[in-house]
Amino acid sequence: MSTVNSQQRVLSGMRPTGQLHLGHLHGVLNNWVQLQHEYECFFFVADWHALTTHYGEPTIFEQHTIDMVIDWLAVGVNPGSAALFVQSKVPEHAELHLLLSMTTPLGWLERVPSYKDQQEKLQEKELGTYGFLGYPLLQAADILIYRAGFVPVGEDQVAHVELTREVARRFNHIYGREPGFEENALAAIKKMGKKAAKLYSQLRTSFQEQGDQEALEKAKALVSEQQNISLGDRERLYGYLEGGGKMILAEPQSLLTPSSKMPGLDGQKMSKSYNNTISLREPLEEVEKKISTMPTDPARVRLTDPGDPEKCPVWQLHQTYSDEKTKDWVVEGCKSAGIGCLECKKPVINAVVSELEPIQKEAEQYVKDPDMVRSIIAEGNETARDRAKETLAEVRTAMGLTSW
Ligand code: TRP
Ligand code: SF4
Repeated sequence: MSTVNSQQRVLSGMRPTGQLHLGHLHGVLNNWVQLQHEYECFFFVADWHALTTHYGEPTIFEQHTIDMVIDWLAVGVNPGSAALFVQSKVPEHAELHLLLSMTTPLGWLERVPSYKDQQEKLQEKELGTYGFLGYPLLQAADILIYRAGFVPVGEDQVAHVELTREVARRFNHIYGREPGFEENALAAIKKMGKKAAKLYSQLRTSFQEQGDQEALEKAKALVSEQQNISLGDRERLYGYLEGGGKMILAEPQSLLTPSSKMPGLDGQKMSKSYNNTISLREPLEEVEKKISTMPTDPARVRLTDPGDPEKCPVWQLHQTYSDEKTKDWVVEGCKSAGIGCLECKKPVINAVVSELEPIQKEAEQYVKDPDMVRSIIAEGNETARDRAKETLAEVRTAMGLTSW
């Protein structure tokens, strides 16, 4: 058993795509802001992941990273509650990726649905690369190195978290149950010294025979107090308490991010590649212009033509931004041709503008002071590294790579 409580840890990553938009806010970001109050959170810029598909554009990463982190901060992701960091600045991810690659069958990676899908979708890029095939395993390393219990992701990433679970299970199976675990555990107990050894054995019996949780906690505390035992022995002592071997890597669960109901300006999903976004730092006049010129129900050619909100992307925006009263007014006014489309858009424009105003004010401060952003990232990198090193040390030992 590991000492960190993985049920308390949340990790998620985002590729550095530059400035974020309303779709991100109503999907991922608001979710992160919630989670940071309840969990120990790690949020990172997945720049190595971006390189697996955008290796031909090395100049974009730095600015995209800064812009994205500014947006995280501006919407209220709090560096005091969550470690915000950049993947490539925590090289431990890469070492764990390498080590996990030793035990991961190729077929597991070839079977990941996004592997073939993306290759077909991004035909203009050569994605028959080693890095691209390995990217879900890199993602597994991202997650496992923090022993995160929960991984907020969109639907498209669930298969990657599932792979991560398999990788962890296989690892624990191979390295957690070392041959002679029982004897090694008994030897480790002796090394604690007579008094502690006796207490440990009594507490273990109370837990195993009577399910005494308090005894289990006491025994764990006893193990954690031991000063002169190796990391491996410590893990054995934890593992022996609960009967199993060593659980070195924790199996994570995905926390499905509720998909954003925010449509793009054309009614499709809001996405940069569809060119239908309102970015979080969109100038407010531009917001007004973009919404004012959004298409509506094509049946409403003239003001006197009645329409149907179900056929109109503006109606979807009302779902996010308007109260019941306003929505009743829209349905009634649209179907009876009692209101014009521009009139109908006004409350949405006002709501988006007042949502974005404070975010933009916040962002402005960081844009003016990029050094501040850099120092927040540097601090996050450091916190992440400290945590990552703890896991990596155990993995190295388990795999027989002792420190010289
Ligand atoms: N693959 C994710 C994406 O493309 C980003 C990512 C990388 C990630 N590592 C992760 C997400 C670990 C969650 C956990 O969106
Ligand atoms: Fe859409 Fe509103 Fe116009 Fe109806 S009145 S078509 S809901 S914008």
